[in-house]
Amino acid sequence: MIKHRLGALIAVLLQVICLTWSQPFPNYHADFVSIGDRDSDLKWWQTGAFYQIYPRSFKDSNGDGVGDLNGIAEQLPYLKEIGITATWLSPIFTSPMADFGYDIANFTEVAPIFGTMADFDHLMEVAKKLDIKIILDFVPNHSSDECEWFRRSAAGDPEFKDFYVWHPGRMENGNRHPPSNWISVFRGSAWQWHDGRQEYYLHQFVKKQPDLNYRNPKVRETMSNVLRFWLAKGVSGFRIDAVPHVFEIAPDAQNQYRDEPRNDWDNDPEDYGYLQHIYTVDQPETIDLVYSWRAVLDSFQREHGGEERILMAETYSPIDIVMQYYGNATAEGAQLPFNFLLISELSNSSNAHAYEGTALKWLQHMPQGRTANWVLGNHDKPRVGSRLGRDRVDMLNMLTATLPGASVTYQGEELGMTDVWISWKDTVDPSACNTNPSIYEQYSRDPERTPFQWTDAQDAGFSNASKTWLPIALDYKLVNVELERQKPLSHLNVFKQLWQLRKQSNTLQRGETEVKALSDAVLAVKRGLEHDSTFLTLLNIYDGVETINLRQSFPDLPPELKVVVVTERSQVKVGDLINSTSLQLQPKDSLILQSTSSYYSYATNGESRLLPVLGVYLWLAQVALYLSSR
Ligand code: GLC
Repeated sequence: MIKHRLGALIAVLLQVICLTWSQPFPNYHADFVSIGDRDSDLKWWQTGAFYQIYPRSFKDSNGDGVGDLNGIAEQLPYLKEIGITATWLSPIFTSPMADFGYDIANFTEVAPIFGTMADFDHLMEVAKKLDIKIILDFVPNHSSDECEWFRRSAAGDPEFKDFYVWHPGRMENGNRHPPSNWISVFRGSAWQWHDGRQEYYLHQFVKKQPDLNYRNPKVRETMSNVLRFWLAKGVSGFRIDAVPHVFEIAPDAQNQYRDEPRNDWDNDPEDYGYLQHIYTVDQPETIDLVYSWRAVLDSFQREHGGEERILMAETYSPIDIVMQYYGNATAEGAQLPFNFLLISELSNSSNAHAYEGTALKWLQHMPQGRTANWVLGNHDKPRVGSRLGRDRVDMLNMLTATLPGASVTYQGEELGMTDVWISWKDTVDPSACNTNPSIYEQYSRDPERTPFQWTDAQDAGFSNASKTWLPIALDYKLVNVELERQKPLSHLNVFKQLWQLRKQSNTLQRGETEVKALSDAVLAVKRGLEHDSTFLTLLNIYDGVETINLRQSFPDLPPELKVVVVTERSQVKVGDLINSTSLQLQPKDSLILQSTSSYYSYATNGESRLLPVLGVYLWLAQVALYLSSR
């Protein structure tokens, strides 16, 4: 009996010791961002891994040197393999290709170079079987000048007369001038004289891309019908192109357009940067237009059922404007207005504080209840490896896979594909072709659009054509899917592990987020969810070896953490246990750590605390001893 009593006493003492070890969890403060409570259902897109396919460069099935729909269908299992939820395709519609498909001649027809409508239907079937959602590019700002609507508008057909933005120009001393000083994104005046109609038309991009006139309700209705057409074909949503350009200011009472003011820092009068675009982008009407498109999607869903259809909006506007695209108290907007901050705010020399600021900027501006997203690259911007460093590809993929919300990967970034130098002779992008051989490289988007690298065979396995539409990268024998599948810690395999982990983990899908620079070199992202594991992602952005005490920055972390994802640069291995007071990171190393199951979390006085599992066993032992001693 005495023995039992002594045992119970020791157990009580040990339990008291354990309780004093327990830590408050989580450590709420301003930087925590909650993305929803653990029991509410997340919609498919809220934690989605999105993947952008640039169809010309993904996979060529018919040997003409240009990718196509059958190529995409053939390779969709690859997207499944790497954990992709949905893919958005750059335009696949009939087009003279003056801007590689962003100049659409028929919005409801498939371009022959990409295949047929039957090929599209086949792609949809394959996608459905694999449970990969298809998102199409919706290009509302302009059509091609070869579009039937434009032809009829130019001919003065009453039905289409006001479909585009036409103006007779300004007469000065008997001479005709463009209506305003507006400049096209792709250089030179945004106004083009049309001999047939004897008027200027507006084109914010190349002159073969006339701007549609959204002040005409018939244009709005026609474009909503384009959305309905593709929704009926089964797509899960749209990426909306060049959103801020859709409306420009209306002409004044004298039917004149106002000039835009100059930017002092740009002395090239042909360059888009020469003017401050206060009348041609970000007009307030544009926000409501996006809400009206969302209403089209929602009413389609109400009528036809199925999962929510989504809008992803392309806008490089100031953050306060971007946030309005999410919706307001009375109207829903784009579920995912693209977050381009990782592209626009970070450079090769950014330190961990800059990374922290960039991530928090989105999270702190985002309205309550909305979903974040992280875009690392696209077909308009230098590739992430070229922008932020080849040796940072894994850490950036790690960052976007562990930050809350959706992530968007541009094809090839999962392999570490980088920009390819393209000679002036081989340059095809209109943005560069409109310049000259001495400056074209600053404007060209060809370097990030080269064919996808599948294997080390001819044309990197992209095609069997003798010439592909853009040259193949020189590094394709070292950077390709086939090879990277075999290397356990290739970029591709790290990417796959990240998305496997993300799918398995409730914390990564819905936990709270803390983003913190631990020094100039080290960034930490902590994700925590009550009664679940805590994850910590660590990036060593620089080239030094860093020793860190995680408990100093995150006092609520357990003393020991398990390594769950590493890169080629790491010295620790998956499964290793590390001491949270002393961890070494190698140059440009990145890791994901997870709390081990030797801690339980419990609530007391409204605060959650962690308790070593040992404490729970001792408590049970104490009860058992007490009962047996009676
Ligand atoms: C968007 C597209 C870009 C295109 C432009 C005009 O920014 O991403 O590729 O050139 O719109 O449509």
